[in-house]
This record gives sequence, structure tokens and C-alpha cells, in this order.
Amino acid sequence: MSHNFDEIVSRENSRCEKYDNREMIFGTADVLPMWVADTDFRTPDFIVEAIRKRAEHEVFGYPAFPDYYFEAIRNWLWQQHSWKVDKSSLAFCPNVVVGIASAVISMTSPGDKIIVQPPVYFPFFHVVEKNNRLLVENPLKIENGKYCFDFDDLLGKLDSSVKMLLLCSPHNPGGRVWSKDELQKLSDICRAYNIIIVSDEIHSDLTMPGVTHFPFAAISPETAMSTVTVSSASKTFNIAGLSSAYVVISNPVLMEKYNHFMEATHIGSGNIFGLTATEAAYNNGNEWLNDLRAYVASNHRFLSEFFRNYIPKARVMEAEGSFLSWVDISELGLNSRQAAVKLANAGIGISPGYLFGHGGDNFIRINVGCPQSVLEKALIIMKQVFSE
Ligand SMILES: Cc1ncc(COP(=O)(O)O)c(C=O)c1O
Repeated sequence: MSHNFDEIVSRENSRCEKYDNREMIFGTADVLPMWVADTDFRTPDFIVEAIRKRAEHEVFGYPAFPDYYFEAIRNWLWQQHSWKVDKSSLAFCPNVVVGIASAVISMTSPGDKIIVQPPVYFPFFHVVEKNNRLLVENPLKIENGKYCFDFDDLLGKLDSSVKMLLLCSPHNPGGRVWSKDELQKLSDICRAYNIIIVSDEIHSDLTMPGVTHFPFAAISPETAMSTVTVSSASKTFNIAGLSSAYVVISNPVLMEKYNHFMEATHIGSGNIFGLTATEAAYNNGNEWLNDLRAYVASNHRFLSEFFRNYIPKARVMEAEGSFLSWVDISELGLNSRQAAVKLANAGIGISPGYLFGHGGDNFIRINVGCPQSVLEKALIIMKQVFSE
């Protein structure tokens, strides 16, 4: 492995949320942070070098979006996900949640119903409710230990006032990488009701070995016409602080609405380092990503085995993608809030599942995107906490 993922990089006082907000979130800075979804891995040299080179220019005016920037994204989507995207379907957005919010605001109206499938990454709720749309929940079901869509429940909730569905693909927090069949069925239903799907694919590069992500818009040309895909290099390459993402919108009418919103709000002018980093990541990141996937998979295995051996009452949901582990703690006699408090008191900062909405309160989310030695340290403390 060319990159040393075992390296411990001190992130304290680097203006990063995960470390520098610990006191605010957990009441103490003395916790190993296994919460917010960025990794502790050093960003690869080919990105750091590109940023350094750009910084050495020493003039940081407004950025441009040259063709080669979008080419890098198109090549990556083709190489990684066998997805051919036209240049005219691509546009910049400052981050993924802004992309989702932009779709909500520009493509639906106040009072419209929007479907969200909890438990799910919690800003999905915010972008609906804080923009005065009506949240309709279509909770995921657990079958054979994995989340799946509840199509019967979905069909029971659809009517002409449902305008949009927010899909998390791959799924945070459950780590599902949805199969083509599942996505096809979801697409068929949504198309029958003229529902726009916003597919958040930020975790799509980081699938576990043997697991393939299927881009929702690639289901069919018709599906692409009603899909807004939002993604970014930020999770994969640990560059979330550089604020750079993109949307893929094949339907010119929807793209026009998106662009109109960007012009109306003037939020899409970009960040020169984010653009530089994304381009460097996508032009050079293939081999590094293979190593990262192997490392993260090994961390997932390590955690699962640890729980099986030492905390057998907790059940780890098998992760098919992402660096987040979702663990059912209901048989430990604790809800997620209680578990989070106990763990924070013992020096571990996790995300309590209740934050992710319906069905989440039996779970805790543990970020395994860290050196395995750190993960081991955290698990040993968890073992002590949960055996009390
Ligand atoms: C599913 C999902 N979407 C979006 C984001 C945030 O992306 P951004 O920072 O680009 O808004 C996260 C971060 O945890 C996430 O897990």
C-alpha cells in the first residue's frame, strides 16, 4: 500500500469541526472523535501538491470553470461508475447539501410534499422543513439485517402533491449500496407519479470490495430526465473543508431552474482550492482510492469482529459502502442518547442514531475512517462502557 493510512495526523487546532468542536458537542475536548463524517487520513500528495502549486501563485481572485475541470469529473464518473455524463449536464455547487437544497427550492414550491427515507443523514429533513415543504417519511425497513426500501409504504403515501424524493445512495448511516433492481423499482414508481429524485451520491466511490455503486440517473435515459444527482470528491479524498461539489442534471428544464437559483443567490462562484483539489483528485486518484477502500474495509471487518467477540449483544449492520458503521445497541438496554452520553464520559464521541430520525434511536454511528490503532483504542473503551 503506497499511502500510510496508519499514520496518526494531529488535527487539533486545525480549524476542523471534528476535533475543534468537541467541547461544544460532547462537553469535553477529551474524546476520541468518531462522529462527524470526515476521515482522519492525510489528503493524498497529488492533491496537496496541486493546492501548494496553486497557492504559490499568490493571487487568489475569482475562479473560472475551465473545460478540463468538468472533463476530470466526467472521466471519473465514467472510470469509477461506468456512467457517461454530458458536459451540458454538469454544474458546480458549493457543497452537496447546498445542491440538494437548491433542487428543493428551485424545483418545488412551498407546501409541496417531499419524501425522505429515514433513518437518514439529517440535513435531508432540514432542507425540506426549513424551506417550508411538507416532509413525508417513507421509513426504510430492515430485512435480513440490511435496510431496504418499503415500496408498499411509499405507494400508500404518493399523490399528486408529492413532487420530490431525496435518495441517499449509498446510504448514510446504514452503509447500504442500493442494487440496480431496487433503484429501478424506485425509479419506476417515481416516474409514474412525476416525482423528481434528488440522489445524493457523495459516498459512491467508497464501496467495499466486491460491491458496485449504481448511479441512479444511469437506470435509463427517462430516469435521467427526472433526476438531480449531487456528488463531490470531498468524502473520498478528505477535502470537505474545501467546499466543492457538483450536480448532474440531464433535463434542460431542471438545469435551467438550478442555474436560475444559482444566479438568484450568487452562491455558485466556487473556491479556487476546492476546484484545484477536485481536479487533482479525479485525475490522479484511482490507485489511491483502491488502497483507501481496502483500508476502510479492513477497519469495518476489525470493528465487526471486535463487536462479535466482546460486545455480542450489539449488532453491527454490514457496511457495503462508506466509512461509517451503524450499530444496533437496543439489546444493551440503552437508547442512542444514553449510549452517546456514557461513551462521551468515557472518552469516545459517536453520533447517536436518534439524530437520523425514525428508526435511528436503537443505533449509534461510529466513524471508522481513522488509523486502525485509533479504532482499536476506541473499541476497547466501548467494551468497558458496554460491559458495565
Ligand atoms: C450523505 C451525505 N450527504 C452530504 C454530506 C455533506 O456534504 P457537503 O459537506 O458537501 O454538504 C454528508 C456528510 O456527512 C453525507 O453523509
